[in-house]
Amino acid sequence: MKSLLSLPCRALAALTVLALAAHAAPAIKIGFLVKQPEEPWFQLEWKFADQAAKDLGFTLVKIGAGDGEKVLSAIDNLAAGGAQGLVICTPDTRLGPGIVAKARAAGLKLLAVDDQFVGANGQPMTKVHYLGISAGKIGEEVGKTLAAEMKKRGWTAADTAVCAATFDELATAKARTDGAIASLKAAGFPENRIFKAPQRTADIPGSFDATNVLLTQKPAVKHWLVCGNNDSAVLGAVRALEGRGFTAATAVGVGINGTDCIVEFEKAKPTPFFGSMLLSAKSHGYETTKMMYHWIKDGKEPPLDTRTVGVLITRENFRQVLKDQGIRD
Ligand code: GLA
Repeated sequence: MKSLLSLPCRALAALTVLALAAHAAPAIKIGFLVKQPEEPWFQLEWKFADQAAKDLGFTLVKIGAGDGEKVLSAIDNLAAGGAQGLVICTPDTRLGPGIVAKARAAGLKLLAVDDQFVGANGQPMTKVHYLGISAGKIGEEVGKTLAAEMKKRGWTAADTAVCAATFDELATAKARTDGAIASLKAAGFPENRIFKAPQRTADIPGSFDATNVLLTQKPAVKHWLVCGNNDSAVLGAVRALEGRGFTAATAVGVGINGTDCIVEFEKAKPTPFFGSMLLSAKSHGYETTKMMYHWIKDGKEPPLDTRTVGVLITRENFRQVLKDQGIRD
C-alpha cells in the first residue's frame, strides 16, 4: 500500500521540481549598465527594461558604473554569472575599444545605448550596435522653441543673449547644443550674442558652475535663452540664473530628456525652465533589451544604428504627454 502511494507522489514531486527549475531560471540573462544611475532618465530606462524582462521572461541585471574600472569588472561579473548580453551607456565613450574587447572575450553580445562608442581614431565606432537620439535634430527643436519664445515675449536681440551649457567631449551632447545654436542663428539670432558655458562635469553642479562664470562675465544681459545637453544642464543654468534674480519673466530654458524636469514643472510658480524635449525612454530601455533578447535567443541581429525622436513638453502639456507615453498614470 505504502509503495503504491509513494510512487505517484515521488513522480509528482520530481515533475514539480522540474517545472519550478524551468520557471525560476530563465535561460537568458542581460546586463544593463548606465553611467549615472542617480539621473531620472537612466532610472526610467531601467524601468522599461524591467518591463521587457517581465514580458519576455529574461533576467535583467542593472549596474551603475561611473568609471572604466567599474565597467570592466561589471563585464567580468556578468560573464561569470552566465549573462549573454550587455546594453550599456558607458561613463566614457573612449572606453569603447576596451569594452568591445572585453565583451568579446567574455562572449557577451553588446549594444551601446545613449552614448556611442568612440574608437582610438576619435571617430564613432559604427560597427558596434547603437541606439541613441537624433541629437542634432532634437537640438534644432530646442533652438526653434527658444527663438519662438523670445519673439512671443517681444525681447530684442540687443537685450538678449544665449547661454549654451556645453559638454563637447560627448558627441551626442555636442550635436545637441550645436543643433540648438544653428537653429537660433537660422532664426536670425546674432552669433556674437551666443555664449558657451563649458561644463566640467555633465551634471547639475557642472552646469551651475559654468553658467555662473558666464553670468559674471555678462552682467548687462537682460534676458537669457538657455540650452544644454540635457535637463540637468538646463536645470543647473536655471539655478544659477535664479541666483542672480532672473525669473520666468526674464529667462527661458529648454532642456532635453523630459524626465529630470518634472519636479520643476510641478512647482506652483513657473521658473525659467520653460520646456524640455521628451525622449523615448521606452525605446531606450524596452526596445534595446528586447532587441538583445531576440539576438541571443533567435540570432536576430539588431539594426546597427537606431535613432529616436523627441517631443516638446511644457508646464501646459506634460501631464497629458507623460500619460499618453505610459510614463505616468
Ligand atoms: C546622454 C545624456 C542623458 C540622456 C541620454 C539620451 O547619455 O547624458 O542625460 O540625454 O543621452 O540618449
